[in-house]
Amino acid sequence: MISVLFVCLGNICRSPLAEALFMNHVDKQGLNHLFTADSAGTASYHLGELPDKRTRAMALKVSNLNLTHKARQFKASDFLNFDYIVAMDKSNYQNIMKLRPENAKAQVVLMRHFDSMIQNEDAIPDPYYGTDDDFKEVHYMLDDCTQNFIKKILAKSNTTN
Ligand code: 4NP
Repeated sequence: MISVLFVCLGNICRSPLAEALFMNHVDKQGLNHLFTADSAGTASYHLGELPDKRTRAMALKVSNLNLTHKARQFKASDFLNFDYIVAMDKSNYQNIMKLRPENAKAQVVLMRHFDSMIQNEDAIPDPYYGTDDDFKEVHYMLDDCTQNFIKKILAKSNTTN
């Protein structure tokens, strides 16, 4: 199994949606035997909460997904338990790297680097203080990035096996 952890700041907007969209593509492609996913936040503001209601509403409307993840905080041991840690922006990336143990297994990557249309952007923008349009944009961005990420992982495992 290839395990993937999606990480943002609060674990209520971007990363739980990335997790759900990623698993939705995994499901649709019949790849459940290959992938597992989870999500976490670098901050502790929203521990135990469901995703933001605007994120949940857009996920239901656009992709018919019911988000049920409960927010949890990223921890150093995640480096040992996942193959990939996918950060939503550079600030998340830096906060993740501060906790990296010597014996880390996970490779840390930026989600936006898997955008199939735009190559020179680093961030999935934080929609928390934004509008409904910002939530919609993030939804479509993550739908594209997660799909492309699956393609890239599969291509990589085909060349290394
Ligand atoms: P997320 O968005 O990192 O995509 O979950 C945020 C959620 C909450 C806050 C910031 C960003 N906050 O400041 O509470």
